Parts: sequence; structure tokens; C-alpha cells
Amino acid sequence: MSDTIHRTMGQQSGRRSWAEPWKIKMVEPLRMTRPEDRAGALAEAGYNTFLLRSDDVYIDLLTDSGTNAMSDRQWAGMMLGDEAYAGSRNFYRLEEAIQTWYGYPFIVPTHQGRGAEHLISQAAIRKGQYVPGNMYFTTTRLHQELAGGIFVDVITDAAHDPANLSPFKGDVDIAKLENLVAEHGAASIAYVSLAGTVNMAGGQPVSMANVKALSAFCRGHGIKLFLDATRLVENAFFIQEREPGYADKPLAAIVREFCDYSDGAWMSAKKDALVNIGGWLAVRDRALFEELRNLVVVYEGLHTYGGLAGRDMEAMAIGIAESMQDDHMRARIGQVRYLAELLQDWGVPMVQPVGGHAIFLDARAFYPHLRQDQFPSQTLAAELYLDSGIRSMERGIVSAGRDPETGDHHYPKLELTRLTIPRRVYTQAHMDVVAESVKAVYDARAAARGLKMVYEPRYLRFFQARFEPLS
Ligand code: F0G
Repeated sequence: MSDTIHRTMGQQSGRRSWAEPWKIKMVEPLRMTRPEDRAGALAEAGYNTFLLRSDDVYIDLLTDSGTNAMSDRQWAGMMLGDEAYAGSRNFYRLEEAIQTWYGYPFIVPTHQGRGAEHLISQAAIRKGQYVPGNMYFTTTRLHQELAGGIFVDVITDAAHDPANLSPFKGDVDIAKLENLVAEHGAASIAYVSLAGTVNMAGGQPVSMANVKALSAFCRGHGIKLFLDATRLVENAFFIQEREPGYADKPLAAIVREFCDYSDGAWMSAKKDALVNIGGWLAVRDRALFEELRNLVVVYEGLHTYGGLAGRDMEAMAIGIAESMQDDHMRARIGQVRYLAELLQDWGVPMVQPVGGHAIFLDARAFYPHLRQDQFPSQTLAAELYLDSGIRSMERGIVSAGRDPETGDHHYPKLELTRLTIPRRVYTQAHMDVVAESVKAVYDARAAARGLKMVYEPRYLRFFQARFEPLS
């Protein structure tokens, strides 16, 4: 039953709500911001929400990355940190957790996701090779390019259309991959890079049928298939909900089956795994593992800590197990849907179906009078902050960066502003406040003027670019 129905049932008897499978033991006070302070803070931040101080933010929906609330078990685990330089007991606990839940034999810890992306890109891409993937992710593509690879988007066309209601918009269009292989040969493909719940497409899932078919195709051509497992448990939730045959399978079994189709995976543990820092890389091939384990000591740290404290690895091992619990995920995605349904009731345009970790507002539909190079998503993020102190993130032309060959802007079809929900952090009342602020900004949409970029850094420009309002 949808939350809309829950809400309209109001006080009627027979109503059955879900609620989070936890209660709150400690609180972190928030600063309530005033409009005049916000205008000054935003100007100082160059109209880029990444450059705001967190103290100037009321409800922080910039990202779900590293912003999770840890459980009492995880905090207790922090006290069990073994901070030995080599062979920390917490590494072995983490190794066992990844082997148990994801099923890969050989594990390399990294400080976060991009540390793992760097290592796999350096180890598995030769200059000039193609790296097909189901839509780009900012850091993933950059590391592939820095290793000499050429990213090719092979996601289904549906993923580029915010209104398309297909249940698995994260799927690879295998015909696109076949064409690439037919044109350049299998040897020109470094590996296929497959992300669970595709972040830039709006958190859209990949079906089990697709990974199965993809794996058969890759094996047939001797091409490796690596997963970005950053939000794979969220992906498993959608398989359980939408794919025939999975309704009665626990999320843990679905995750394990999904991984069984791949040759390895990397993860930013700052998402699904409910920690504030951490990542890993895991493979089945021993020779590749030896190479990765050698590279990690150059860039991250010894192969039994990879840039992490022992206590961080312990919290990650516990967080992985907690992330696989069905009740946890039902509440996590239930909260995202609660916010989405409030906004949908008011006709606010967003990517459909709503994904796992965030609401992606459709800034093109919000501001049809702005050109894409007037930065509609960046404008929307700025307006939301001004209205209420809510921080969101641009996921449009600024995030897409420039073509390394031509130097032109990439002009992505999706021009989105992301309201990302941290795990176990905010209440339903916070979601109400967010929804009402988005509605207020939507009602005032005709007055938005757009921005111009006045400073552009060379790499991952969205993090540090600065803007000024167009007059
Ligand atoms: N892969 C995906 C799908 C991600 O969403 C991220 C990070 C990474 C890899 C890189 O991991 O940040 O630990 O180095 N996404 C964050 C976000 C930054 O806000 O979506 P990292």
C-alpha cells in the first residue's frame, strides 16, 4: 500500500503504518538558520552548496555518503579497534564480512570508494581501451579516463528520460555493448563497469535478469564484469519488490546472487554499509588481487588497513551485516518514498520511479525558461538553500564536466537536483519541512534567473566551481 493511501486514511481505524526498526539514543542539535544569514553564506560559497559550511545548513541532503548514523553496535565496535600497522584483527573481521555477504574471496580495503576506483582502473585498464558502463559516475569515469580508458555509456535509453516508468532503468542495453564489441573487438574492452542503483540516473536499479544476461555475454567474449556495489543492497530491495521470483528471498540472498555473476566489485562503504568512512575492492582472480594488493601500499596504506583506522574497519564489518537486514532497508527506502509522495501530490517534477537513496528533482521541468548553460539544477539547489537552509546537490551539466577530447561541456539529458537522504538520521517531520520548502520554491519558479560560472577547477568541477547570479 502506498504512503499516500496511508496518509489519506488519516485517523480511520484499520490504518497500519510502518516505522523505523530503531529508536534514538543520542541527538545532535541543529542550527536554525535565518534568511539574511543564508543569503550571505550562499554568496560566500559562490552559489555552490558544496562550498557552504555545514554549520550554515539546517537539513543536510547534500549526500547519503558518509552521513549515516551508526548504531550502538557499531559505536561499541569502534572501541575494539586494533590499531596495529599490520595484520589488525579488524581487517580480518572486515574480510570475513565481505566474503560472507558479497561472496568474493580476495579483499583490499581502501579509504573510500574512489580509492578503490583508482586501484582497479590502474590495474585493469590499458591506454586506449573502452570501459562500458551503465551511465557514468563522476569519480568512477574520471579514474577510468586518468588510466587511459574511454568510458562508453551502455545504459538503456529509458534511463535518460525522467518520465519513463520502467522498473529497471539501470539495466545495460546489451545490444549497445554488442555493437561496441563488434566494432572494436573484445580485446579493446578493459571490463564492463556495472553499478547497482545507478546514482546519476536517479538511483535506478538493475534487474537480476540483466546482470545474468550481461554476465553470460561477458563470459562468452572473455570480458570481465566488475560491479560498483556502493548501493547494491538498495538495488536488491527493488529486485525483491519488482522482479518475479524474488518476493520471498531475503535481501542478503539477492545481493549474493547478484555478486555471483561478477568477477569482482568495489564499494564506497559510506553509503549502504552505514559508516562515515571506508571502502573496499574485492576480486576472484588471484593474480589481479596480487597486483591490487601491491598497488594499495603505494596509494592508500598497507594491504590490511588501506587508509583506514582499525576501528573504521570494525564499524564497516558490523555495518555491512546491518545493511542486509530487510527491515532496515524497508524503512530506509520507505522514508525516501514518503518524501516523494508528498512532492508528487503537489505536482513537483522529479525522476520517476523514485530510486533508493534520493529524490532527483527535474530542474529542466522546474525551470523551462532557463538554458542548460544557465545551470538550472545549480540554480534550484541555491534557491532551496535560500528558502529554508536545506542543502541539496547539483546533478546536471556542472557534474557532467567536459569532454576530455574536445573540451566542450558534456550536455547530459538529465538536469537534476538531488535531495539525498542520509540513513537513520532525519525524522518524518524533517521530511515534511523539506517537502514544504520544495513546494515554496516550485511556486516561485518563474522568478528564477539562473547562474553563470565564474571559476571552474580542472577535475570534478562541481565540487569547487563558483557561480554568480545572472541579472
Ligand atoms: N560510486 C558511486 C555509485 C558513488 O555514488 C560514489 C560516491 C562513489 C562511487 C565514490 O565513492 O565518495 O567513497 O569516494 N558518491 C557520493 C555521492 C560522493 O554523493 O553520491 P567515494
